[in-house]
Amino acid sequence: MIVRTLFKIYKKMKRTKTYDAPHKGLRNALSQVSLLSGKTNFSEAPEVEKLYKLGMDVFKILSIHAADEDEVTLTELEKHCPGCSQHDMEDHQEIHVVQSKLEKLLTKIYDDSKAGKDVSEDGAEFYLAWSEFQSTYLEHTAEEERITQPLLWHHFTDEELALHRTKIMQKNPPQTFKSSTAEIGRSSRGKDSRSLSGCSKSSALAVAGDNLIPA
Ligand SMILES: [Fe+2]
Repeated sequence: MIVRTLFKIYKKMKRTKTYDAPHKGLRNALSQVSLLSGKTNFSEAPEVEKLYKLGMDVFKILSIHAADEDEVTLTELEKHCPGCSQHDMEDHQEIHVVQSKLEKLLTKIYDDSKAGKDVSEDGAEFYLAWSEFQSTYLEHTAEEERITQPLLWHHFTDEELALHRTKIMQKNPPQTFKSSTAEIGRSSRGKDSRSLSGCSKSSALAVAGDNLIPA
């Protein structure tokens, strides 16, 4: 109840939205895997390979994002508000477990497809399991924006929140991140249609999401 009130008050103040750009990018990325896995012909090895590459890129970005939140945003919040980061950190651990299972399944599908095996049943299972994973992930990100964000606004100034973003950008080598987001664009459209050069990591995530939308 208190958090909901804080949310309304700070929203009117037009405070910096920590999660806005990265979460938009992640939501787009998750949707693109769902779309592609739904239309993949699992009898065709090149189509399976395309899904595998897209899925692995998205897994990589999800892992980077979770580590950023754990090591910067939530670590800083915990210093000011002990216990406030616990729920999100536990969510990240649970998401990591499901994500690892999906990564293993997609790798098996890819390997079996390359070996000429029938992967249609595993493909159908991946599509369904991804949908469940996406639901969980979307709920988690909404909670971060509705509950964790007001706590961040309460304990930090916009200048301090900007410093968190700087820390996140410094901890990830920009080139590594940009090449992975650019690869997602190529996986989906056959070419990298938008340059990520000069993007902040948050912007790059949002751009990656845009790039995923099928032409
Ligand atoms: Fe998170």
